[in-house]
Parts: sequence; structure tokens; C-alpha cells
Amino acid sequence: MAIFSGLLDAFSSEFGIDLGTANTLVYVQGQGVVLNEPSIISVGYRDGKPHTLAVGKDAKQMIGRTPDSIRAIRPMRNGVIADFEMAGMMLEHFIRRVHRNRSFISPRIAVCIPSGATQVERRAIRESAESTGARDVVLIEEPMAAALGADMPIMESNASMVVDIGGGTTEVGIISLGGLATTRSVQLGGDKLDQALITYVRNNFQLQLGEQSAENLKKDIGSVCLPEDGTDGQTCTVRGMDLTTGLPREIEVSERHMYEAYSETVDQIAETVRDALRHTSPELAADLVNQGVLLTGGGALLKGIDKVIRDTTGLPVAVHDEPLFCVAYGTGKLLGNRLLLRQLAQIGSS
Ligand SMILES: Nc1ncnc2c1ncn2[C@@H]1O[C@H](COP(=O)(O)OP(=O)(O)OP(=O)(O)O)[C@@H](O)[C@H]1O
Ligand SMILES: [Mg+2]
Repeated sequence: MAIFSGLLDAFSSEFGIDLGTANTLVYVQGQGVVLNEPSIISVGYRDGKPHTLAVGKDAKQMIGRTPDSIRAIRPMRNGVIADFEMAGMMLEHFIRRVHRNRSFISPRIAVCIPSGATQVERRAIRESAESTGARDVVLIEEPMAAALGADMPIMESNASMVVDIGGGTTEVGIISLGGLATTRSVQLGGDKLDQALITYVRNNFQLQLGEQSAENLKKDIGSVCLPEDGTDGQTCTVRGMDLTTGLPREIEVSERHMYEAYSETVDQIAETVRDALRHTSPELAADLVNQGVLLTGGGALLKGIDKVIRDTTGLPVAVHDEPLFCVAYGTGKLLGNRLLLRQLAQIGSS
């Protein structure tokens, strides 16, 4: 499970990795985010052994389009590594790309993990990173990384609250004095929304949509609120396969359809946020009336999600300007903060 093997040759100062279900970002100290690619690898097979054909954006284009001899794989599922061999091959490729024009020795590595990761998963990631001979490995939980990356005042006694809606997980963190006072992690995020839309279109239009088409629709006209003017909102044409004839067919999907498709998943996300609040101390909850909630992760870009969280919690809600980068920024900032490093070193060692 040495998914980080080979990194030592590639890096040598300090870098952070956001190994996300949908996207992998690498942050190098002093240089910022130097890699941002979909967490996807496509492989061919020679004598039964896989070899890399493409990674990242190039591999993403192959999803649902590969002949039988090629597989386009997402090694991360629901926020955790589902396929260690493929995750390792993917990372190696990314790292080699980052390595060009840079030289590093003996790295200190910060890796972001879901707050719901099991001890076994934490150990596997830590051991993989350590196997590179890294001089130091720090695991940082995703809500903490997001809050740090978003410049929230996490070292203060006043509570900060972050909700990171990623591709595979939604992570809620209420932070005070540099620690996570309350966390919730559920395997709900962009992927579940895409699946919900595929099911909705199948049931209502008798059309099979591809995953890529569902994600594109979400980014174009995805909405989790009904249009305020009472209309069906924006529409978009999408193609899929007719379930009866097996032939390609086009339909028009509206914001209202998207809202209906997403509502159950969005309700579950909102309930998770509410549950975190219910289980936090009254003092911290009171702080949040002023501090509010910050939304990060790609799901924060969904139209109306801030309104849903505001209505659910009664708290002020803001969306970060760069929601897809917060976690990577956080891993980088952690490496530059000795005090916090010492505090967080506990997480990975437990
Ligand atoms: N404009 C947008 N509107 C809605 N969703 C979006 C938008 N842009 C990206 N997304 C979705 O955000 C998700 C990716 O977000 P992000 O990169 O934060 O996830 P991740 O960190 O890889 O996943 P996780 O943290 O769950 O492991 C994808 O599901 C993607 O479809
Ligand atoms: Mg993430």
C-alpha cells in the first residue's frame, strides 16, 4: 500500500496533498498550488498487468468512452482510497509532473484526510507517506484544512464553522482553540447528486444519462432551490440513451428538475449540518450567531446551497471565493505553522 513511494525522489521540502474524491491538488511551500487535476487514471493491460495511459483531465475524458481493453478508474470513492494500486499509480504520475523543474529532498508532508476516516485508513495513508522516508508526515482533517485555508480564526476561543461539500463527502467542522470541537462526515456530495440526477432522468424521461453529462448539467444549471419567480428556471439540452429503443435521444432539463432530483440528498446534507450544531456546546453555538458558517468544496458552488444552509441553521452563511482550493491552501498553511503542527500531529498518531 505504498501509494506515496517515489515521492522522496520527487520532493524535498514541504508540500501538502489534497487527495480528494473528485480532484487532487498538490501545494508546494512558497509556490502555491502546483497541480490541480481530476482524481482519475485510465489504464491499459499488458500480460494482465496495468499500465498508465492517462491521468487527470486526459483520463476524465475517457470515462464511459473506453473500449473493453482500457479502464478509466476513480481510485478515490466516498472520500477514501478505494483502490490503493490505482491511487498509487495516479499519484506517482502527478508527482512526476510536479517534479519537473523542481528539486526537493527529504520532505515534510501534510495530507488531508476525511474526518470520518477510520484508524485503519489513517494508518494506511500515514504508512504510505512514511514509506517514502519523509522526515515528517502530518495528517490534517478536511474541515480543519478547509478552515485554515480559508483564513478562519481557528486559534481563537470564538467558534468557527465550516461545511466542505466535496465530490464524495460532506465534512462539517466546528473549530475553537485550534481543535475540532465537533465534526460530522457523511458520504454525500457531488457524486451522490450526479447519481440522483441520473436516477431522476431515468424515472421521469426514460433516458439513461452518462455520469459526465450529469456532472456537466450540475455545473451548468444545477440548483437546490426552486426558481423564485415561479418559473422552471434555466433549461439545458442533454443527450442520453433512450431506455426503450436503445437509441440516442435529447431532452430539455430545467432548474426545477434539478431541484427535484437533488432535494433528498440536499436535505440529508442539511440535516448533517443541523446535527453538528445540535451536538456542540451552547457557548460555541452562541459564537456562531455572529461568526456564521463558511461553505467550501466544489459543492459550495451549487446555486442556492447557501440559502438552504441558512434556512436550516438560522445562521449567516458565506461561500468562499475559491471553494475548490481551500483544503489545499490549508495543507500548505499548516506546514508553515509550527504551533498548529504540534497540535495536529496528535491526529495522525492516534
Ligand atoms: N460549479 C459547480 N457547481 C456545482 N458543483 C460543482 C461545481 N464545480 C465543481 N462541482 C462539484 O464539486 C465536486 C468536487 O469538489 P471538490 O474538489 O471539493 O471535491 P473533492 O475534494 O475531490 O472530494 P472529497 O473532499 O469529497 O474527497 C464535484 O462533485 C464537482 O462536480
Ligand atoms: Mg475535498
